[in-house]
Amino acid sequence: MRRTLPVLLATVIIAAGCLRAPAEEADLNFGYALDPFALASIPQYQAIVANDATMVTVENYMKWGLIHPNPSTYDFTLADQIVATAQANGQQVRGHVLVWHTQLPGWLTNGTWTRDSLLAVMEDHITTVVTHFRDNFPGVVTHWDVVNEAFNPDGSRRDTIFQQVIGDDYIEKAFAFARAADPDISLFYNDFYDDFSLAGETLLTGVPAGPGATPTQSDCAQLPKCAATQAMLTDFVARGVPIDGLGFQAHVLLGQAPDYVELADWVGPLGLEWAATELDVKVLSSLGDNSATRSAHADTFVSVLDDCLESDRCDTVILWGVGDAHSWLPGFTNGLFDYGLIYDDDYLPKLAVVKMFERLEAASVD
Ligand code: G3I
Repeated sequence: MRRTLPVLLATVIIAAGCLRAPAEEADLNFGYALDPFALASIPQYQAIVANDATMVTVENYMKWGLIHPNPSTYDFTLADQIVATAQANGQQVRGHVLVWHTQLPGWLTNGTWTRDSLLAVMEDHITTVVTHFRDNFPGVVTHWDVVNEAFNPDGSRRDTIFQQVIGDDYIEKAFAFARAADPDISLFYNDFYDDFSLAGETLLTGVPAGPGATPTQSDCAQLPKCAATQAMLTDFVARGVPIDGLGFQAHVLLGQAPDYVELADWVGPLGLEWAATELDVKVLSSLGDNSATRSAHADTFVSVLDDCLESDRCDTVILWGVGDAHSWLPGFTNGLFDYGLIYDDDYLPKLAVVKMFERLEAASVD
């Protein structure tokens, strides 16, 4: 039976977060990508994270360039602050990200490498980072995004340093190194398959939309990039490469989320999980943050949440930030998009918080 909160009560409860209890009831890993500076300094941010999240991730400070700035130097300071806060809050952490082509340190991108020497560096990096969190925060970092965004829209491999120097098998090697470092964590490949036509890859890099790509395309076979991922994961499972799931980044457009249940319909039969790992809802800045856009914004969040709750292969929804004040969106889209998160610039809740609360409550009493 669906329950709804009286408006006044809802407003009081959600002022500092309210989603954690129903998320726990619904067995959902729910939470946010965090910024350590905001977490250390903004009381409202701290309260929302404590009261909404069962799981958090680190938006930037586990990335190679920031955590491994010199060949023999690791800097865990900021990532540790987030993981320690999560541990104190009784929350789990999703590690993000071990191998990605962005935010790499200069010593790596400007170095001269052979396949063997780059594989050795990648093994050292993955082993050191995974082991650090395994040993210093036992049982807290339960999932890792091992490799991010390895494909182009046309399904070919992205031309990264790892692809160029190591070759196709850099991905399975990365998963093997991660599994060797911690046999108990869930290992995910993490990418995006929607939204190319308006605001994703095309806008950010000029790479044209993939064939068949529209923001709501939900048939994996029609998206060469998704089909290539399916082929890779099918091969991994057949050959016993250690992988547990696929993360859909879910940087979706207002009112135009794909149907993730359909998009992921091949994942379960492989024995894998899927997750919505970087959910936000892009609103055209020109539309503004008003009651009309907030209504559609809330519905779009609920659509993705619904997909995960409906699927017996999804137990994780992570939002890519807490409030609009710290969102990557306006900066990365030259101001075209904004208002992507469920709390506003002042960390006040939007309608999406109420709607997600209601959807989680409904799931918890199913
Ligand atoms: O750390 C430096 C800081 O020292 C410096 O003062 C400051 C000045 O701009 O920059 C800081 O680095 C920035 C970093 O975020 C931390 O704030 C980088 O310039 C900036 O490029 C970086 O952007 C991040 C982006 O990934 C690129 O790595 C975004 O915040 C982050 O939201 C975004 O996240 C990615 C996911 O990891 C993968 N999927 C797509 C998603 C959105 O692009």
